[in-house]
Formats: sequence, structure tokens, C-alpha cells
Amino acid sequence: MCGIIGYSGVENSVPKLIEGLKALEYRGYDSAGIAVFTESGISVIKAKGRIANIEKILDTEYQNLESVCGIGHTRWATHGEPSDRNSHPHGTDRIRLVHNGIIENYIQLKKELSACDYSFESDTDTEIAAKLVDLNYKTSEDPLQAIKTSVEKLYGSYALGIIFDKYPGKIYAARKDSPLIVAISDKGNFIASDIPAVLKYTNRYYQLEQGEIAVVEKDKVTVYDECGSLIKKDIMTADWDVRAAEKCGYEHFMLKEIYEEPLAIVNTIRPRINDGLPCLDLPGLTDDTIKAFKRINIVACGTAMHAGFIGRTAIERLARIPVKVEIASEFRYKNPILDKDDLVIIMSQSGETADSLAALRLSKEHGAHTLAIVNVAGSSIAREADSTLYTWAGPEIAVASTKAYTVQISLMYLIAAKFALCHGKITDDEARQYLHALIEQTPVAVENALKLSDRCIQISEKISGAEHLFYIGRGIDYDIAQEASLKLKEISYIHSESYAAGEMKHGTISLITEGVPVIAICTQDHLVEKMISNIKEVKARGAYVIVICKENTHMDKEVADEVLKIPVLSDLFMPIPAITVLQLVAYHTSVIRGCDVDKPRNLAKSVTVE
Ligand code: M6R
Repeated sequence: MCGIIGYSGVENSVPKLIEGLKALEYRGYDSAGIAVFTESGISVIKAKGRIANIEKILDTEYQNLESVCGIGHTRWATHGEPSDRNSHPHGTDRIRLVHNGIIENYIQLKKELSACDYSFESDTDTEIAAKLVDLNYKTSEDPLQAIKTSVEKLYGSYALGIIFDKYPGKIYAARKDSPLIVAISDKGNFIASDIPAVLKYTNRYYQLEQGEIAVVEKDKVTVYDECGSLIKKDIMTADWDVRAAEKCGYEHFMLKEIYEEPLAIVNTIRPRINDGLPCLDLPGLTDDTIKAFKRINIVACGTAMHAGFIGRTAIERLARIPVKVEIASEFRYKNPILDKDDLVIIMSQSGETADSLAALRLSKEHGAHTLAIVNVAGSSIAREADSTLYTWAGPEIAVASTKAYTVQISLMYLIAAKFALCHGKITDDEARQYLHALIEQTPVAVENALKLSDRCIQISEKISGAEHLFYIGRGIDYDIAQEASLKLKEISYIHSESYAAGEMKHGTISLITEGVPVIAICTQDHLVEKMISNIKEVKARGAYVIVICKENTHMDKEVADEVLKIPVLSDLFMPIPAITVLQLVAYHTSVIRGCDVDKPRNLAKSVTVE
């Protein structure tokens, strides 16, 4: 996690660094800092907390600070508490460095540096990397050589931005296993962890590959490969427009992103339907290869893994192929049973999640075919997978994932149809009917679900004082319950658990006492009666029950305290309108409780450490 930015150009770098950091704040917000070249050397301003704290310092103590070159950092703490002294940039009077990643052998390196008379001001692994570069710079006086010698000694992951006192106007950048781009504009060049940080100025960028080192100057960028040879990079163009990364009048990014869901579904699915049939256009995945897969594994983290649960239900139901969903951080260390008959789907919004990336590499080593489902174009997972499908949701800024989840599940529905066709489990006509419903009905259902916002606020008011809360469901409703529960807890800090409704009575029901809210998701026609029995069980023990069901489901008054009726689709697609209202409930609960909706405590959007 952590976000890094750098600018060398003809304009003042300070506002650019601050704006870039604000756009990267979703990657961490424990502290922030900048280091810029001035006439008297390198000036460093850093402070615990949000970027606003740096702005305050700039307004009061550095009103006239101008510099055409500098680097900046926003931190998600790993080594050392959030504090001024642990904030980046780190280094010495000679060099300043910002870092995203983890230096795993920092304790050993610290001993070696101590033996060379270095002392340390922070508890961070980053300071060790900075002092190592300083040591090698002192001996070679050559920044490139110093970086090369230093990174050879680093174990772990890093994206680095470094400036050297004697080289004003130059930013040195290096990366391994943490993302970093170099962006090109007419008025100067940038380094950044991610495209939104520079989108206001340019959409042209290079993706820095493993082991590459770049030297960024106002009018040129030089890139070297791992062996130190000069290389020529292809310029990529991001097609996200700058407004996509702005709030556009919404109070929070999360709310904006929920309202973007109908369009995101259309953008992701419509281009992939041709003559009413799925058209995936995947390199390396012909109909025959799809037919040959005996098993599917979906590997991901957090919300993306929850989207995998819906994918599993859809694929197993339609294509009758066994699907396992695995937590990436577990999968990568369990010596998975995989071979060439396996397809491994790695699902990730950011495409940079460290555990998912490691799971992808491991699956490839085992000879499985890997398919990435990723939102961020050009991200590591997208580039390393054998085949890649993008979800065209546009940038997702709020830490809580919403539209990315909705399009991930929409794409899984499409994949399920494709696999079912290839495995001969459905006819063309059945596929056409199914896809017609997917593309024509689901976006409309989301639009209509969004109109239930006031009703969602009423429910949020009812649950906002709760300490504990349960989501229950059966089948695909249990899949949704898991995501709804994560959404609520991560942004409202209410302790919430999701349970398979029939499983409550095997232990967890002992936690139900007078007034504990239970949100029962009840959208599957064949399971309504079973759900009502489970609802009665918790209600009899004092639960405050809120039922989410289809508009046309009959629910007797005494079954629940609240009933939220949502637009009707075929059962398999019901997770889409259901999650829309459940995201709204989580959002409004967070607002009512006065939480920081877009930047919940302790979290970062892009989890690039394991
Ligand atoms: O970028 P990814 O989809 O790989 O991220 C995975 C999780 O970190 C992410 O989904 C996380 O659980 C969300 N912030 C939850 O809303």
C-alpha cells in the first residue's frame, strides 16, 4: 500500500505533489510527506495524519515554497506506528526516498548500516533502504550505481522514488513487486503509484517493469533494465477521464460509485455480447480449451473473493463444472493441487493485491491456465495472467469496493454462460435468453434499487446504534450476505457476521439477544419457506429482523420488523439489486455514525503487501 508521487517539470511541483497525494490517499492515510529541491538543498515536510496536515504546514510555514522537482508519499503503516518520525520521505541531507512495499531483510541491513556508523530516527523498513542508498551513493557518487547496488541487497517488495542533492531536477525510480508508473506530459514528467494521481495532467504513461530503473527529468525519461542496459518503453494511454476520479457533486466517492453501477454493468457486459451470445475474445482460451477444463478455482481477497462466490454459484449451476473459491493469502502457502486441467481465475479490482498476484504466479508454476478479471488496465495481475478480462467500471476510489463487485459478478454471469455453452449444458437459445435478461434487465433493476435510497436510510437509522449485527441467507443469498456484512463492518465499525441461515442454530444463535439486528436476505423463491423458518428462530430470541426480498414475495407482517422489497429478476441475478440496497444501507449507516466513509480507519484500498 502507500502511494508515491514525483514530478520534475517546468511548473511548481508542490501543488502537483499535494494533488497527486490526495488522489493516492486511498492507498493509505496514516501520514504524508514531500521532499522538494530548493535553492538551499532538499526541503522535507512531513506529518502524521492526512494530507490536509501537510497543507496546513505549507500554508503557515512555507508560504512561498516553490520547486520544479520533488517527491511525495502517503503512508499505510506497516513497520512503525503512524507518527511524524515514521513518515516518508526518509534519508539524509544527501538523499531522500519514498517507498511503497516491505523490505523484509531490514533488520539484517540495519545491523550492517549500524556497523558503518549510521543511526536511525524511525522504526521503518524504508529508512533502512534510504540509508543503504545513501551509503552506496557516498562511495560511488553515482545515483544510478548506488540504486543498483542497493536494490540488489533488498529482499521484499518496493516501488521507490529517490532524489539526490547533487542532481536537482532528477527523480530516480525503481520497482519490484509494487506498482509504479512513469507519466509523460508536455510540462514535465511524473512517477506515481497509480494513474489517478496524474490524470489531471496527462493520460500517457509507461508501466515500469520488475527490476527497471527510471530517471525522470523535466523533458526526458530514461529507463534501464535489470542489467543496466538502456531500454525503450511503449507509451500507454489511460482512457479514464479526469472526472471519473472526482466526486462530481456526490458527498462521498462510495456513493458516487454505487450510482455508477448501472453504467458500469452496461460498459462491461454489452461489448461482450455478439448476436445475443457471449463473445469473450480471450487469447489462449478457445472453445476447445474451455471445454477441456475439469475444474475452476477462483482466487481473490475481500470483496473480490465474495464476487467469486457468486461466480461459483453461477458456473456450477449453468455449466456444471466444479468451482472452488480460495482466499489468496491461504492459497499461496497451501501447495494447491493444480494442473493443466485447471483454470485459475484471479479476481482483483486493483490488479495489484500482493496475495492475489502471488497466487497467480503459483498457479502458473503448477501449469494451470490463469485468467485475470481486473479493473485497472495494465496492472500487474492483468499483465502477468495468461488471459485477461477487464471490468470496465472506471476508477474506484472509495476504499469500500462497490461498483467493482457489481461488475465482477456481472462478468461471472457472462463467463458462466460461455462455459455452459462450451460444455454443452445450455443451448444457444437458452444462452440468448439468459444474456438478454443480464444486459437488459439488471442495469434497470439497479436503477430501481437506487430509488429505494430513502428506505435504506430508514433501515440504517434502525441499525446505526447496534454493537453487533448478523446477515443471514441461503444459497446465493448467503454469498451476498458475506459481502453485505464486510461492507457494513469496514465502514461503520459495527461488528457484523454473515451466516448461512440454517447454520445459526448450530452455535451462533446463542449470540442473539433482545434487539440484535438480523438482516435476512431472502430473494430465492425455492428457499423462501426455509428462510422464514430460520427468521422465526432468531425472532423468537428477540432479534430485530429486517428482511430483504423480491417485490413480489409475500411476507406476512409478523415475520419481520422491517421488510425492504427490491426489484425482481430471475433468482440467479437477484444478487445485483440486493447488493445495491445493502451497499446503500452500509453507506448511510456509516454516514449516520459519523465515520469517514471513503477512508475507513486502518484500511487502504490497494493492498500491495502480504
Ligand atoms: O484490488 P482487489 O480487488 O484485489 O482488493 C481486494 C480487497 O482488498 C478488497 O476487495 C477489499 O476487501 C475491499 N476494500 C472491501 O471493500
